[in-house]
Amino acid sequence: MISLTGITRSYDIGSSRVTALDSIDLQVSRGEFLTVMGPSGSGKSTLLHILGILDTPTAGTYRLEDHDLTTLADRELSRIRNEHFGFVFQSFNLFNEFNALENVMLPLMYAGLRGSERRERARRLLVDVGLEHRLHHYPNMLSGGEQQRVAIARALANDPTLILADEPTGNLPSDKGEEILHIIDRLNRDGVTVVMVTHDTRIGERGSRCVRLRDGRIESDSGSAA
Ligand SMILES: Nc1ncnc2c1ncn2[C@@H]1O[C@H](COP(=O)(O)OP(=O)(O)OP(=O)(O)O)[C@@H](O)[C@H]1O
Ligand SMILES: [Mg+2]
Repeated sequence: MISLTGITRSYDIGSSRVTALDSIDLQVSRGEFLTVMGPSGSGKSTLLHILGILDTPTAGTYRLEDHDLTTLADRELSRIRNEHFGFVFQSFNLFNEFNALENVMLPLMYAGLRGSERRERARRLLVDVGLEHRLHHYPNMLSGGEQQRVAIARALANDPTLILADEPTGNLPSDKGEEILHIIDRLNRDGVTVVMVTHDTRIGERGSRCVRLRDGRIESDSGSAA
């Protein structure tokens, strides 16, 4: 599904250069549950941003299915991002001026659904993550775990084939984190490919495969894609 070759991301700051990712080669197959671990600053978030086309590599090739993403125009890239990817980050990135239902409806605007269809689909997604009793709550009226579940419902709105999660349980107490992991497990069993960054070794072991980064390089890979 995904093939990264020689992916490098460096930043020039004044006369010094920070190499966040250093010539990464990585293949991810459809249906995999890949966890990415490594020390702080090792390049995990940078890798996730590049996978999600939220950042552009300094060098290297990114192939997704039969597209070479390094050659596509921005409009094409946005389309791929909106149609295929779901993002779940540690800071939930919800809009505070919209309630739970409206936050989940937002990505559906791009999909061209009618207002009533958007509302019904958003409601179903929130029911699926156990929030049927919180549809009209604003983010500041929700607990951290509930906000994270709204963020997951929103990530699922466009029926993504790939979920990119950066420490999705990082800000949560362990029982609430467990609920989020259950939801992600369930999605993966339903066929969604998952790439999840985590600091927690026990969580890292829950995926089907774990890649460890150090200093922007792959230090170990528990199994390589076929
Ligand atoms: N915009 C930027 N400008 C300069 N350097 C950056 C920038 N973004 C990231 N870096 C550097 O790139 C390296 C990798 O950062 P990254 O955020 O990918 O680490 P991480 O593995 O996600 O760490 P953490 O576990 O702390 O979240 C770090 O040394 C960081 O300081
Ligand atoms: Mg990070």
